[in-house]
Amino acid sequence: MAALLSPSDDAIMRAVETLRAGGLVAIPTETVYGLAANAQDGKAVARLYAAKGRPSFNPLIAHVPNLDAAQTEGLFNAQALALADAFWPGPLTLVVDVATSGSVSDLARAGLNSIALRMPKHPVAHRLLTAFGGPLVAPSANPSGHISPTTAQHVLADMGDRIDLILDGGACTTGLESTIIDARGDRPALLRPGSLDPTKIERIWPGLIRPDLNPDAPHSPGQLLRHYAPDAKLRLNASAPRPGEAYLGFGAGDATLNLSPRGDLAEAAANLFSMLRVLDAAHDIIAIAPIPNHGLGEAINDRISRAAK
Ligand code: TXA
Ligand code: MG
Repeated sequence: MAALLSPSDDAIMRAVETLRAGGLVAIPTETVYGLAANAQDGKAVARLYAAKGRPSFNPLIAHVPNLDAAQTEGLFNAQALALADAFWPGPLTLVVDVATSGSVSDLARAGLNSIALRMPKHPVAHRLLTAFGGPLVAPSANPSGHISPTTAQHVLADMGDRIDLILDGGACTTGLESTIIDARGDRPALLRPGSLDPTKIERIWPGLIRPDLNPDAPHSPGQLLRHYAPDAKLRLNASAPRPGEAYLGFGAGDATLNLSPRGDLAEAAANLFSMLRVLDAAHDIIAIAPIPNHGLGEAINDRISRAAK
């Protein structure tokens, strides 16, 4: 079983040593818990894919502690710099061209000549990245296709027998994965809706492109249709539960659990994965209240419509 450690300086050093030795360490970020491996070590990355049961053609996000480290790995045009300046550290992943000085293994990039980079805001992730001194790949710390973990206990339950260490940084604050933007063209392209509200991106660099979310030709494999999957069946846009169903509410009214009684989309995003887990453990059908499709509601509806497939 993986050791579950609170993030003391000693625990951070133990995590660094584990990563240098090719091991796997689950880490808190502000979005979801990530399963980190040394991005430069192809063998460690192969272990990571095996632990997740993830298809190896799926490229990973490289996490870095600062913009200098990001620019060692990728080429930042004016648009990428403006977005990094506005939203890093934070829940934004930027896809840029690989730099010739890049150190991330081909396997982690799935052989592409682009790279996905993110500078997380969570203090524990930041301390670890700084102490480690190199990029860490970190997909969500769940078996491929399962619900992303937002607490250390979720990680222990799902992956504890396959990884070395878990750093416990408490519950994640935003609760949905980062928003992924392809920043290589003239205009930013939304590859995955996530914790950063796209309307905020449009304020920094207008003209956001929303590629067709066609599951047969995913730009970002996060777009594969069935991706975030509970065992229970989901019924979406349900204004009330039917007999025998659990009801995941939003806004005022009776519910088994409520994503946000006051109808706040950020609060709903933070609660989504953990409430789905709780209901999934005890119910066969989960009816979900309608969620408005603006702002963060787009990312929430993206996740629940995939989970319902
Ligand atoms: O919030 C997050 O982003 C979390 C936390 C742990 O940082 N990480 C995460 O990583 O969600 P992961 O590996 O589960 O998601 C990676 C996504 C995939 O959809 C992948 O296809 C996309 O990033 N991606 C990675 N490299 C890419 C590239 N070069 N071009 C397009 N998409 C890429
Ligand atoms: Mg994931």
